[in-house]
Amino acid sequence: MLPTRADFPPGFLFGAATSSYQIEGHTFGGAGVTHWDTFAATPGNVVRAENGDTACDHYHRWPADLDLLRDGNFDVYRFSTSWARVLPEGRGAANPEGLDFYDRLVDGLLERGLKPAATLYHWELPAPLADLGGWRNRDIAGWFGDFTEVIMRRIGDRLWSAAPINEPWCVGWLSHFLGHHAPGLRDIRATAHAMHHVMLAHGTAIGVMRDLGMKNLGGVFNFEYAQPADDTPEAARAAALYDAYYNQFFLSGIFKGRYPDLVMEGFAPHMPKNWQDDFAVIQAPLDWVGLNYYTRKLIAPAPGPWPAHQEVPGPLPKTAMEWEIYPQGLTHFLTMVARDYTGTLPLYVTENGMAGYDELVAGAVDDQPRIDYLAAHLNAARDAIAQGVPLNGYFTWSLLDNYEWSLGYEKRFGLVHMDFDSLQRTPKASYHALRAAFAQG
Ligand code: FCB
Repeated sequence: MLPTRADFPPGFLFGAATSSYQIEGHTFGGAGVTHWDTFAATPGNVVRAENGDTACDHYHRWPADLDLLRDGNFDVYRFSTSWARVLPEGRGAANPEGLDFYDRLVDGLLERGLKPAATLYHWELPAPLADLGGWRNRDIAGWFGDFTEVIMRRIGDRLWSAAPINEPWCVGWLSHFLGHHAPGLRDIRATAHAMHHVMLAHGTAIGVMRDLGMKNLGGVFNFEYAQPADDTPEAARAAALYDAYYNQFFLSGIFKGRYPDLVMEGFAPHMPKNWQDDFAVIQAPLDWVGLNYYTRKLIAPAPGPWPAHQEVPGPLPKTAMEWEIYPQGLTHFLTMVARDYTGTLPLYVTENGMAGYDELVAGAVDDQPRIDYLAAHLNAARDAIAQGVPLNGYFTWSLLDNYEWSLGYEKRFGLVHMDFDSLQRTPKASYHALRAAFAQG
C-alpha cells in the first residue's frame, strides 16, 4: 500500500525530479553543443544513436509540465540547469535566452506554490570544455565556479535549495572507467582525476553560492547496495571495494577529508598532483545531503587488474533496467549515511523510481509495478525515519518519461507517459496514485 502524507512527519516534502538534457530539447534556445551530443553521434554508444535534440520539448512546454507538478500535489521540483544552455562555449559569453528560460521556470514554480530545487550540473558538459579534457582537467573547478556564479546571480535569490553536481560517481567512474556515459573513456588515470576534480568543483561551487548569500545548499550522491555474490571472503572483499568507490568515496572526501583506503589501493599512482591539499575546498560545509537510490548489485571477484571484480545477475524481481528491486537498501543507506557521515544534517531521497514496460492503452497507462515499487521505497524511507534518521523529503525519478542516456528513449521512468512523436503527455496510474497519497489532509 502507498503510504500517504499523514504517514510522514509534519513538513515532510514530496517532490519529483528531472534533468535538463533529458527533457528540455537541446537544439532550442541557443544552447551549445554538449559532450552528450557528440557521444550520441558516435556509433555504438547510445541505443539507436538517440540524443537530446528534442527530448520532451520541455523548453517550450514547461508551463504544462509545472501544472502537472502542482496538480499532482507535489511540494518541490528538482530540476537542473544546463551549463551549455547558459554558457554555450562553457566559458565566456552567456546566452541570454538560456538565463531567461531558467528565470521564467523558477518564477513559474513559485507562482504555482512549488519549491524550486536546482542542481547545477546533470551531465551535459559543454563540448568545448570536453575538448580541454573536461573532468580530467583541474581547471574545471574554476570553470564550474564561474558557471555557478553566472546562473546563480540570476536565479539564486528565489531557489529553495541548490546542489552542485548530480551523482559524482556517474560523472567520475561510470563515464571515465566503465565508459558507459559521455565522454566514454575507460582509463584509470582519467577516472582518478575526474573523481577528484568533481569533488573540487563541488566544493568550489558551494563556496561561490555561499558568497552570493544563498542558503540550503547540499550535495546529491548515488548509492547501490553492494552484496557479496556468495559467502567467500573473496566475494566479501570484492563487495567492500565496490561499496568504497561507489558509496563512500565522495562522502568520505566531503565529511572526513580523506578517500577510502580500499580505493586508494588502486587510485594512488593515478591521482592528480597535490590532491591532498584540496580538502579545505572539498569540505565546504553543507546544509543537507541527497541520496539517489534504485537497486542493489551482487559482486563477485574476477580475474584481471584492480578492482578485479564483476557484477553477477541476482535472483530478485527486476525493473525494465534489469535492476533488482531491493527497498531494504534504501533504509540501509539512509541509516548508514546519517550514522557514519552526516549526523543530524537533514537528508533527502533526491531520486528513486523505476523503468517499467509501460503501455498507453485507450488513453491510460496501468503501471501498477511502479506504484508497488514506490510504495515499498516510501515505506523503506519510513523505516529509516522510525530509526531516527532526519529524513525530510522524498523525490520520485521522474516526472516524465525522458532521455535515459545511453539507453535512449526506450526506458520509461516517468509518472507521466510521453509520446515522443506527438509529445503528448499522459499521466500514468502512478501519477494519480501519488496525487491521492500526497493530498493535504
Ligand atoms: C540516475 C540519474 C538520472 C536517471 C536515473 C534513472 O542515475 O541521475 O538522470 O538516469 O538514474
